[in-house]
Amino acid sequence: MKNLKIKFLSSSVLIFLICFSANAQTKKILIAHRGASAYAPEHTIASYRLAIEQGADYVEQDLAVTKDGVLICLHDKTLERTTNVEEVFPDRFREEEKDGKKVKLWYAVDFTLTEIKKLDAGSWFNDKFKNERVPTFAEAIKEIKTKAGIYPELKDPEFYRAKGFDMEKLFIDELKKQSLDKNQNMKTPVIVQSFSETSLKRLAFEFKTKLLLVLLIDKDGKDLLTEDSIIKAKKFASGLGPSKSLVTKEIVDRIHKHGMTITPYTFRSNNLILFKTVCEEMEHYLFKLGVDAVFTDNPDQFPKENRLILQKKKRKVLLC
Ligand code: G3P
Ligand code: CA
Repeated sequence: MKNLKIKFLSSSVLIFLICFSANAQTKKILIAHRGASAYAPEHTIASYRLAIEQGADYVEQDLAVTKDGVLICLHDKTLERTTNVEEVFPDRFREEEKDGKKVKLWYAVDFTLTEIKKLDAGSWFNDKFKNERVPTFAEAIKEIKTKAGIYPELKDPEFYRAKGFDMEKLFIDELKKQSLDKNQNMKTPVIVQSFSETSLKRLAFEFKTKLLLVLLIDKDGKDLLTEDSIIKAKKFASGLGPSKSLVTKEIVDRIHKHGMTITPYTFRSNNLILFKTVCEEMEHYLFKLGVDAVFTDNPDQFPKENRLILQKKKRKVLLC
């Protein structure tokens, strides 16, 4: 009887270990793109809160710099798409030529934080969000800290450098203030992304950060996914974040062979071509192609995969 008990216990431990290691290796990561931006205005506290409620592992922030040198969460360099800046500051635009036409642009870097805080960052999406403001990076961290990881993107660092701002320094300084610069907070891991190789190299070699760095690749960046390019990127980054249109099984395997991760963007319910639902699309990329993580506007549609892949191999498990 005693022997039987020991046998049972040791096989349970073995099963647990197999399951645990399989899960550890195959845990797929959900990054809420600009928050839960399919349901709430992008880069607002409402959008970040909803992303956490919907189970995001990480919440993304795109970063911009104000006239007085404060990091804010904003995707575009300009404010007119996601705020009522035209109404509040009708004369503060710069006129530029775009596709042969003159356009008015309200650059965030031309406004102080106090001015930006006057803007309504929610009504463009839905009236019920009219009290939402553009958050600072510091406010975003405070909201998310201990509830999820953060996945900030240094956006347009060259543009801000030309305006006299050292975006990388502002970024590292803010993380230090919040005790996140060395991944000290297990509940709030930090992964940094940028399309700018220069910016990531500065973080890696000048600031000597140990945070994970992901090099983003746009839809025209096929050349950055060759064997040689991956070897070069591995010198400063731990992962690649290509546009999903570039991702094939061969590319996923090539990246994994070099010990790097692959995190494509962006999965959104309002832009489906080949798939019936965004959940099915994410399932395809995560489980058929084998990517490690996805950026999605629809965190609630992330395939319910935290079941074991072992189980999936034995029989069809519906994830969506
Ligand atoms: O950061 C991943 C993805 O967000 C890159 O595209 O333009 O949405 O920042 P974008
Ligand atoms: Ca982004």
